Amino acid sequence: MLGDDVQMLSSVVDGPSFGEFDSDSFWRPVKLTPVPGPVSRRMRAVSSRCLNAGTDQQTLVPFVQDHKRQGVIVDVDGNEYVDGICAWGAEPWGVADLEIRAAMMNAWDVQGAQLSCSILTPEAIRLAERLIALAPASITRAEFSVTGTQAVESAVRLMRAATGRGVILVFGPVYHGESTSLTAAMSSDGARSSRGAHVFAPGIVHIPYPCQAGSPFRPGEPGNAEDVLHYLAWVLEHQVAPDQVAGVVIEPVATEGGVFAPSQEFWNSLGALCVKHGWVLCLDEVQTGMGRCGSVLAVDLWEGIEPDLVILGKGLSGGGMPISAILGSDRVMAGSQLSQGSTFGWQPAACAAALASIDILTRPGVLEYVRWMGGEALRILSPLVSLDHVVGARAFGAEVVLGYQLLMPNGLNRSVFLHEYLLEHGVVAMCDEEKPFVRLQPALNLNRDLWRYALHTVADAVTSSG
Ligand SMILES: Cc1ncc(COP(=O)(O)O)c(C=O)c1O
Repeated sequence: MLGDDVQMLSSVVDGPSFGEFDSDSFWRPVKLTPVPGPVSRRMRAVSSRCLNAGTDQQTLVPFVQDHKRQGVIVDVDGNEYVDGICAWGAEPWGVADLEIRAAMMNAWDVQGAQLSCSILTPEAIRLAERLIALAPASITRAEFSVTGTQAVESAVRLMRAATGRGVILVFGPVYHGESTSLTAAMSSDGARSSRGAHVFAPGIVHIPYPCQAGSPFRPGEPGNAEDVLHYLAWVLEHQVAPDQVAGVVIEPVATEGGVFAPSQEFWNSLGALCVKHGWVLCLDEVQTGMGRCGSVLAVDLWEGIEPDLVILGKGLSGGGMPISAILGSDRVMAGSQLSQGSTFGWQPAACAAALASIDILTRPGVLEYVRWMGGEALRILSPLVSLDHVVGARAFGAEVVLGYQLLMPNGLNRSVFLHEYLLEHGVVAMCDEEKPFVRLQPALNLNRDLWRYALHTVADAVTSSG
């Protein structure tokens, strides 16, 4: 079992230590059975009978989780895995962080359940103030909801209300959620749940993300921002007039699309278009925000971006009760008549958890450690780019990706091969058979031995898939 020496204490950051252990880590997963083991198999036989088939078939891993410790998932057969996903980014400080728990329980004891947009609570007001202080200067107001999907929908309503225009530009492949129409139509990352949804939601225009593995215009060449801006100009001439466009929804770093980040020049050009045409610039930071990319918000990675809206979710409450936020400028929110209520939105306990999570995030050394995680990922994964089948390694803080050719010489799907290899060797990572990359999105305070073990195992897996 995981020894005490490598267990991560709650919220304690294991400071940066470049080059201290140059290759190997001390940690090895306990492996008691092949994956899935017999107990997982029995439980999955039941789940295949009682869960929605679409969900059961899409389940990422073939085992059933028994419990988690800091950075480690243990399945019902006793096998261990480094948690390279942390609940899809929603558990940034590991399992049931003690500070988050205390803040959340205290607010719950005192305030109970409350829809703070109907009956205001100090927790909600404090959270709004705190988030505004962390956001770019253009952001002056805040609104809350429960999920990222709801927050994106709210943002689109605000964009349309503020401009009186209908069309939303989105840059993909990207994932903005999968509601019955709007956010599913805004998503284009190949996820089965979003496929075809755009047919049912008018007013969404997809533009290729300014950088991606392959150019959508010149097969075989890398994507580039100049082509994208030319295409956008074409769309504005032939498909929608600029004054029909309410604005742009864009992830500052395209996460589900393969972890790409646009250049400063692209942001300058997009910002100039927004100003020229009166578009609302909305940054979807559901995944990239709250420290994930090594800065409080990913927008901080560039100069001069002045968003009208910033959307947060996932890790906002530090693994506590769900909450999402829509941060807005005066332009969008000061005169707004819209309120984005949801029975479970704005819960004081969720707001308190988010406040405690911000306390952790803004502590000295925390973001430095996240950046160290990214540097370590590049140190271990970048050399693989010399392999013929590997096309790129990228890391923005603890958002890490390794891209490759999807098909192996023997015709097998490389993502499927890697996924099985990683599980057998005790790592849970994000592998999708339709995407030519493996992604890691661990807790922002993952113990460095576990992190190195995960990275070396990914490197071994990709090397042996050659
Ligand atoms: C960028 C982005 N936007 C929106 C969402 C939707 O958030 P939720 O799953 O909380 O509805 C996600 C979820 O992965 C996301 O990554």
